[in-house]
Amino acid sequence: MQRILKDKGLWNGDILVFESLHSTNKWALENMASLAHGDVIRAIRQTAGHGRFDRKWLSPDDRCLTISIAIKREPFAGTMATILGQLSALAIRASLDKQQIAALVKWPNDVLVNGKKIAGILVEGDSLAGWMVLGIGLNINTTISDFSQLDPMQPVTSMAIERECAFDVGRVCVDLLAELERTFDATEKGGANHLFDNWKLHDALTGKQITVNTGTAPVKGTYAGMTEDGRIRVIDTFGEEHQFWSGDVSLNSI
Ligand code: BTN
Repeated sequence: MQRILKDKGLWNGDILVFESLHSTNKWALENMASLAHGDVIRAIRQTAGHGRFDRKWLSPDDRCLTISIAIKREPFAGTMATILGQLSALAIRASLDKQQIAALVKWPNDVLVNGKKIAGILVEGDSLAGWMVLGIGLNINTTISDFSQLDPMQPVTSMAIERECAFDVGRVCVDLLAELERTFDATEKGGANHLFDNWKLHDALTGKQITVNTGTAPVKGTYAGMTEDGRIRVIDTFGEEHQFWSGDVSLNSI
């Protein structure tokens, strides 16, 4: 493992780079006691990277940025703990925008380019105990042939596919961390209002008919945005509003 000391930044955390890990989230969860707020665990390769609902996250050698950040706050300010994922999705979107890649955010915390997933976020931990792990997978130089082993019904893309050029993964990582720090700092100091305005501007689900699957009975209806603490709002055909903390959203075919 190589420890890179961050010389500036709001969090002053270090970046711990591992050649290979099962999962950066798993490592961070297991080693949380020795991590400081803002420490970043980065793996060049993950052998068992996973996403929400325990789905496999493809992490080919240094082509997908896979990081987990230790977030420690006692207590977490306002709704910070419940909107951590959304806040991070917006930071990823902003950092892609700087590379001329136009992305949208999709509840709960996916980042899409042309309807295809380019980044995923997995937040784990215990906010009441004062710590969380923010796991981010961003497809940077991942190729179409890397993706061929994935379910074609879940379209994915990478920065390299979208821009038809290769990116320096380390550089993208540093830029993204700076964007995350800025977004977090602004929200901790100024509240989440700007976040909601920003989410509305870049929301992939605006005006869509959707189905939310939470593992029990799926709810179909019209997407009605997000509550201020990060829950999705859906209005069903009887006009009744439903709100969910977590789940999977798919677009209804007409
Ligand atoms: C999802 O879309 O379901 C979330 C994907 C999160 C993947 C990242 S890669 C870094 C970190 N380590 C993991 O095992 N998962 C997250």
